[in-house]
Formats: sequence, structure tokens, C-alpha cells
Amino acid sequence: MSPQSNGSEPRSPLTLALFGPPGSGKGTQAAFLVEQLKIAQVSTGELFRQEVRRGTRLGRQAKEYIDRGELVPDEITMAMFRERLAKSDCAAGVLLDGFPRTAAQAEALAAFLRGLDRQMDRVIYIKVPQDVLVSRLSGRLTCPECGTTYHPELAPPRRAGLCDRDGGRLVQRDDDAAETALRRINVYKEQTASVVDYYRNLGLVAEVDGLGPIEDVRGRTLATVSQSRVG
Ligand code: AP5
Ligand code: MG
Repeated sequence: MSPQSNGSEPRSPLTLALFGPPGSGKGTQAAFLVEQLKIAQVSTGELFRQEVRRGTRLGRQAKEYIDRGELVPDEITMAMFRERLAKSDCAAGVLLDGFPRTAAQAEALAAFLRGLDRQMDRVIYIKVPQDVLVSRLSGRLTCPECGTTYHPELAPPRRAGLCDRDGGRLVQRDDDAAETALRRINVYKEQTASVVDYYRNLGLVAEVDGLGPIEDVRGRTLATVSQSRVG
């Protein structure tokens, strides 16, 4: 049975969120999930990076914060998010990656979804200890074209330095430099970690052990999705 259906009436489009610290594997798992579920991935980090690459005003504003490892202010993030959700590919369902990240974003999201007659269905919290996060981020390679991530030892591309999907030349994200990555982990602890409690109180959180081979984490993550909106 599709996770979007309980076998009776049609329901509003699936809305899932992947939650977890920098380097926990949100982007890695999101790529599998959206393919499997035929829904759109909405990564606010990736949207900001696209704006930075295009040199837009929004990109210039966001870059100041991203380069320091800090969160982009809520108003800027929400405006960009609303615009993204209005796109047609989001009509079938969305997987939010790295959003919401503050209590204010979680509340604004709830109000926004209500306005669309949608609701959050499941928040998948990928748990990974801090020392593992640091080693994953310090080695991560990213495709600037499509955002796919790799790691020379943990998740190597088929051809060294090139993206499996589009052949793009892989780069290190500027904010993966050691000092900035640590700052991002601290910002997560200070401003984002508690957002999971907001969703816990709503009974929406499924915790997933993010350690171990990517395929194993994928299996555990998919299992939580199949429990979404059933019953
Ligand atoms: P964003 O792009 O969202 O970054 P992040 O949350 O810091 O998370 P990452 O993308 O670093 O990690 P990930 O969990 O996706 O891990 P990945 O799968 O790549 O945000 C960047 C910036 O944008 C923020 O700092 C902020 O400034 C701004 N921003 C974004 N959203 C915002 C918002 N809502 N509000 C305000 N500001 C916002 O995996 C990491 C590495 O590990 C990879 O190399 C991968 O190959 C490897 N790996 C993954 N899984 C495994 C595994 N199981 N075993 C071994 N290796 C693995
Ligand atoms: Mg990511």
C-alpha cells in the first residue's frame, strides 16, 4: 500500500521532514526517499546554495550567514520556502530536508500547511554522534550542479572526483571547512535540536539510527515512512 493512502479516501499530499544535525545524512537519505515515494525534495540549504550560485540578492543575503555557519533569518527562509512549495512538483508531496530549523519556522510551517489543507505527516529524526558528524563533514564532496553528496571513503563516487548523476566536478562546500562545520553543529544544538520536541508533542517523530552503511540507514528510514498516515 502506498504510504500516501490508507486504502480508503484520498488524503492530502504527503509531507515528511528529515531532521538531524549537519552531516547526519539528510541529503543522502532524501535522494533515495524522493525517488521511491515520487515526491519533491525541498532542501532549504540547497535552495540557498542555488541562489548564491546565481548571484541573486537573496543569495548574497544568505551567503553572509552560511559562510559563518549561522542560520539565515526566519523571514528570508520562510519567504523562499513558500515560493518553492508553490511549484507544481510539490503538489504530489514533499520531503523537507533541513527545514524547519527554529521554533518560529515550525510554527510558520504549520500555519502555512493548514492554509493549503495539508499537515505534517512524519518527522524522521536521524541520530548520529558528534564525532562521526565531524569526520563525515570534513571529507564530504558535493556536486555543485545537483547537490548529490559523496565521501572518498564512506560513499565514494564511481569515478574519483566526478558526480555519478551528471558528471559534475565534485567540490568541498565552503561551510564544511573545519571551523565552520563545528559552528554549524553548535548552532544546531543551540537553535534547532529542540524543534524535535515540538513535533514529539504532536506524536510525529520517528527516530532512526543514522550509524552504519547508507543502505542500512535507508532501510530503517523507509520503514518509518511506511508507518506514516496509516490508520
Ligand atoms: P544545509 O545544506 O541544510 O546543511 P546541514 O543541515 O548543515 O546539513 P548537511 O547538508 O551538512 O548534512 P546532511 O545531513 O544533509 O548530510 P549528508 O547527507 O550530506 O544548510 C546549510 C546552511 O544553509 C545552514 O548552515 C544555514 O546557514 C542555511 N540554512 C539551510 N536551511 C536553513 C533554514 N531552514 N533556516 C535557516 N538557515 C538555513 O551526509 C554528510 C556526509 O556523510 C556525506 O559525505 C555522505 O556521503 C556521508 N554519509 C551520509 N550517510 C552516511 C552513512 N550512513 N555512513 C557513512 N557516511 C555517510
Ligand atoms: Mg544536506
